[in-house]
Amino acid sequence: MESSSLSSLLLFHVCFFLCLAPPLLATSSVVNANTSSNTNTTKHNHIWIGPIGHRLITVDIKGSGHFRSVQDAVDAVPENNRKNVLIQISPGNYVEKVVVPETKPYITFQGGGRESTFVEWHDRACDRGANGQQLRTYRTASVTVYANYFSARNISFKNTAPAPKPGMQGWQAVAFRISGDKAYFSGCGFYGAQDTLCDDAGRHYFKQCYIEGSIDFIFGNGRSMYKDCEVHSIATRFGSIGAHDRNRADEKTGFAFVNCTVTGTGPIYVGRAMGQYSRIVYAYTYFDDLVAHGGWDDWGHVNNNNKTVFFGVYKCWGPGAATVSRDRELDFETAHPFLAKSFVNGRHWIAPSDA
Ligand SMILES: *[C@@H]1O[C@H](CO)[C@@H](O)[C@H](O)[C@H]1NC(C)=O
Ligand SMILES: *[C@@H]1O[C@H](CO)[C@@H](O)[C@H](O)[C@H]1NC(C)=O
Ligand SMILES: *[C@@H]1O[C@H](CO)[C@@H](O)[C@H](O)[C@H]1NC(C)=O
Ligand SMILES: *[C@@H]1O[C@H](CO)[C@@H](O)[C@H](O)[C@H]1NC(C)=O
Ligand SMILES: *[C@@H]1O[C@H](CO)[C@@H](O)[C@H](O)[C@H]1NC(C)=O
Repeated sequence: MESSSLSSLLLFHVCFFLCLAPPLLATSSVVNANTSSNTNTTKHNHIWIGPIGHRLITVDIKGSGHFRSVQDAVDAVPENNRKNVLIQISPGNYVEKVVVPETKPYITFQGGGRESTFVEWHDRACDRGANGQQLRTYRTASVTVYANYFSARNISFKNTAPAPKPGMQGWQAVAFRISGDKAYFSGCGFYGAQDTLCDDAGRHYFKQCYIEGSIDFIFGNGRSMYKDCEVHSIATRFGSIGAHDRNRADEKTGFAFVNCTVTGTGPIYVGRAMGQYSRIVYAYTYFDDLVAHGGWDDWGHVNNNNKTVFFGVYKCWGPGAATVSRDRELDFETAHPFLAKSFVNGRHWIAPSDA
């Protein structure tokens, strides 16, 4: 009795730190934890390298916050930030290009709602940057995050460049690029046309988000779960949703869509093999009648594509579901790793109430 209550107490503590306070825990990507070099005995070998304390920064376009622009608020966070920084952004349209550098982890953008707070810009891949060179896709993002432990809640991100007409080149226009690890988004909107959301690298969790676009509008080599999201196509002739860029068999990356709804106009492919080892799974997801014949596209990796691309479907429904799952329905065992937040190691950094 005693030992079991002790062990449940210990379990609680483990779970508390692992599940509830994960950003407080060490990861080697933040600081190199070297216990032997830690001579500070007050720390008892616990290398506490997560954020300590909180800071609130307010942004209001009308001037009643600390800053009028989101980038000014990010600039006010010191390099090698160690605090949880909540940047609270009042409703309004913030027309600016924003970058959160790698040296500023633990930042949260919190808007007043995804229908009322927008951060937007309008760069396209063929536009020229300050150096006279074309920006190319990845540098068009209205908001770019290189930092780890970023989160955003109840806010929308847009790229307002006009949607390309079929056949036009260089009109890729990213609304948001996430290149940091352990990023969490809830109640966010992502608006664009071609290449809206650059899910570039790292582990990411998108909860109850709205993602709109036309061609490859969720793309990159992230290891990401999209849970309870609405994925909305505005394709006018032919479009595609996920373009996943896994290039080696040993990468753990992939896109998992769980309990999402896929709506809008088509026809669209639901997945494309941007990388030869692309992995995309849709589970418990509703599809409108917008899926192109065949459902998926191998991006011309003809030779070994059949062996290396992993496109799967598990228990999807709606008028478009049959086209998506033809030959792609997974059994439970194969689908299982893609169904829960463990796909992104979420137990260590996503609170149970946020999953
Ligand atoms: C840890 O620190 C000690 C003492 O400064 C050093 O000798 C050792 O090489 C370090 N180990 C690592 C893995 O950095
Ligand atoms: C040891 O760590 C404590 C708590 O983090 C700190 O207050 C103290 O200044 C540190 N001492 C040294 C010698 O680094
Ligand atoms: C975000 O919006 C939802 C729905 O309007 C609301 O329930 C929730 O409290 C909001 N969260 C924050 C952190 O403001
Ligand atoms: C599926 O998504 C809907 C809509 O967001 C939500 O109300 C519901 O709770 C979700 N179901 C599960 C099992 O997560
Ligand atoms: C790949 O699969 C398709 C359809 O199942 C088939 O027609 C094609 O011959 C395969 N290609 C290779 C290289 O195995």
